Formats: sequence, structure tokens, C-alpha cells
Amino acid sequence: MDKYIIEGLNPLNGEIKVGGAKNAALPIIAASLLADSQVVLEDIPKLRDVTNLCSIIEDMGAKVKRDQNRIEIDSSTVSKTEADHDLARKLRASYYILGVMLARSGHARTTLPGGCNIGNRPIDLHLKGFRALGAEVNLDHGVVDVKADQLKGAEIYLDYPSVGATINIMIAASRAEGKTVIENAAREPEIVDLANFLTVMGANIKGVGTDIIKIEGVDEMHGVEHRIIPDRIEAGTYMIASAITGGDVFVRNVLTEHVKPLIAKMHEMGISVEEDIAGVRVKAGNKLKAVDVKTLPYPGFPTDMQSQMMALLTQADETSLIIETVRENRFMHVDELKRMGAEIKIDGHSALIKPGRLTGAEVRATDLRAGAALILAGLAAEGKTEVKDIYHVERGYENIEERLRGVGASINKVSE
Ligand code: EPU
Repeated sequence: MDKYIIEGLNPLNGEIKVGGAKNAALPIIAASLLADSQVVLEDIPKLRDVTNLCSIIEDMGAKVKRDQNRIEIDSSTVSKTEADHDLARKLRASYYILGVMLARSGHARTTLPGGCNIGNRPIDLHLKGFRALGAEVNLDHGVVDVKADQLKGAEIYLDYPSVGATINIMIAASRAEGKTVIENAAREPEIVDLANFLTVMGANIKGVGTDIIKIEGVDEMHGVEHRIIPDRIEAGTYMIASAITGGDVFVRNVLTEHVKPLIAKMHEMGISVEEDIAGVRVKAGNKLKAVDVKTLPYPGFPTDMQSQMMALLTQADETSLIIETVRENRFMHVDELKRMGAEIKIDGHSALIKPGRLTGAEVRATDLRAGAALILAGLAAEGKTEVKDIYHVERGYENIEERLRGVGASINKVSE
């Protein structure tokens, strides 16, 4: 098992380049199976989730050629409509196979997805959408089977603006007969990237980025070349790395409008954030002001930045409050941060974070973003921090230790 060893208290200085967005790359790789010719994707991050999804579609018959951050996908040879269960369990995004194969072949089957252990993550809204489009949905011992002779456009109201459900329904509806309207749709930038990709392939989608998406089904979609948008959560994590060490880092390849909620909070904390067409420069002084943060669907403060923000708030001048409204069970990093000396009190969905010095300790990444938070805390802590179970971190950050070392962090990956 690998672990990170971090020696804290080095101010970071220099430039870090952010890669393509994991949560855009995954649905886009899956949706490539809708094209009748080769799809070429650029800026695909080298991550375990991506490798697992590629293995799933290869097992279904697709030809996948990967070269660094580029992937070529030829799906003309896809014959299976079922995702391998062992592979599907490894990542949550395997459920995109349902929408894609339902649209392509009128049948799809997969086991209920895995992914981070961050609370109840049902897929009832995905299934509600498929049913509304005319599919027959069967759930048996954790295996989902969906089928339809012909999907038909429908009006679908989402009880919650779920990212995954919006994506799955949008993909399925892109090949349904007639018009689909998704109301209370999620507005995350990754959904916009997927819609742009589908549109260039030939789909007819309007309103993405708003809460009403309209889709007119089409019969054919063709292969395209597409570059994935930059990862806003990776960007935010490096912005916090600069701030938490009192550093001065230019984070390159950031679409600044995607990190506005974090920039707003950083300004409130007294951190200097200069926006540039190519990225953001984050520079923090000695004193960080306490702030309150509430996670919300986009364009609110992202739940995927909550744990990293909490690490930063341990270094503020007064007590801060974080309210997590998107996910249950997303405070698992708190016990680990406490091992490093943080004073944090949880009450239901709220966390009170008192200011205090962090000291190095042995901690475990309990999920992807929790792992990122522990690395950030380690950068600000006195002494040595060991972060274990880093396979979680590697699901979502490409070479995080190399990128941080490049700006002066003392972080090494070692095998136990
Ligand atoms: N929900 C339902 N029913 C559903 C679907 C969702 O009740 O059918 C609820 C969930 O229980 C949850 C909330 O809706 O409380 C939000 O879930 P959502 O469906 O929006 O999230 P997701 O699609 O499962 C994606 C990202 C997550 C990110 C969330 C929120 C991917 C592969 N995953 O998950 O990313 O936290 O959106 O922004 O895109 C991560 O990258 O670390 C990560 C966990």
C-alpha cells in the first residue's frame, strides 16, 4: 500500500497546471459509445476511475487507444449491453453505461455502482427518468436492468438537481423519439461540457447550464474530437494549497468562472486571488479571516471542495462554520484532521472549526476529497504527516505529489 509523507510549513511558490475534469471525462467517455465513428478525446486525466471505465467499455467490445492524456474510442465493435459487474463496482460513474446503452441498443444492465463512501447515494432519479422515457426498469439483488423498444421524449421533473441523473437522462433522451424536457436539472460545468460534446456529435440540446434542459432526439450521432474542460475541483485544491502555506502560486488552466464560489470565499478570508485568462494566482498573507460556508449545487459552493476548505479554515483567525447540504456522511475527514490537532465540532450537517496549529500525524484518506484535505493539512502542519489509503486520492488527482513538489512542497509517495 502506498502512502504520502509530507513535511509541512514550506510556502509554495511557482506554477501548477490543472488537468481535464474527471467528472466531465467519465460521462463523455461513456457517451462516446453513441457515435457511429471514432471519437478522439484530449485532456483526459490519467486516473484510476478513467482506467476502470475504459476497461468496462473495452469489455463491452469497444476499441480504446490511450496515449498520455489522449484517448481514441472506436465503438463500432461494441456487442455487449452489460457492464462487467466487478469493474462496475469500482466506480460510481459506471451507471452512465445505463443511459448510453439504453440509447444505443435499447437495453443495458449493470450492478449498482461503487465510488466514494460518502453517504447514501441512490439512483432513484436516474431510474425515474428512464421510466418516464418509456423504459422498463428492473432492480434485482443490486443489479439494474433497463430496456425499451423505443425511448420516447417526456417531461421529467427532478426532485433534486442531481448531476448523475441529469447526465444519464440527457444521454438517453438524445436518441429518444421527440422532445424531452428536464426540469430542475443540475447546472454543473461538467454537464455543459458533456452537452457540448453531444451537440457536436449531432445531438439537439438546448438550455444546458440552466435548470431547464430541452432535448430533441436524433437518429444518428457521429465521431468527433473533443477537449475536456479543466478540473475545477483540482484547481480549487491547488488554490487552497497556495493559501494554506502562505504561498504564491499561479494555477494554470482554470476557467475562473467555474471556481467563483471559492474565489469569493478566498476574498472574504483576505486572500489575494488574481484572475487571468489562463488561470488564477493565489497569494495569502499571514492572517486568514474566518468565514462561513454552505455547500450547494452549482453555482453554489461545491461539496467536493468542502473538506479542503475545512483544512484551510483550521488556519483562520476565529471560528468558522461549514454547513454541508449536498451529501450525508461527508465529514469523515474531521476525525483525521483532529488527529493533527484541529478543533472541530460536528452537529448534524454543520461543523464548527476553531483556529489552531496543526501538527503532523498518521492519518487515513477515507474518501477522495478527504484525502486531498489531509494533504493540504499536512502542508500546513508542523512536522511529518503520513497519509495512508491514498488509492482514494489517486481516483481523482493525477500525480498530485509531483505537482505539489514542483512548487516546493515536501511530499513523497512511498510504498509501505
Ligand atoms: N440523489 C438522489 N437520487 C438520485 C441521485 C442523487 O437522491 O437518483 C441525491 C444524492 O443522495 C445526493 C445528491 O442527490 O445527496 C447529490 O447527488 P448527485 O447525483 O448530484 O451526485 P453524483 O452524480 O452522484 C457527482 C460527482 C460527485 C459530486 C456530486 C455533486 C461524478 C462522477 N460525481 O456525483 O463527485 O460530489 O456530483 O456535485 O460526477 C467527487 O468527484 O469527489 C465526487 C464525489
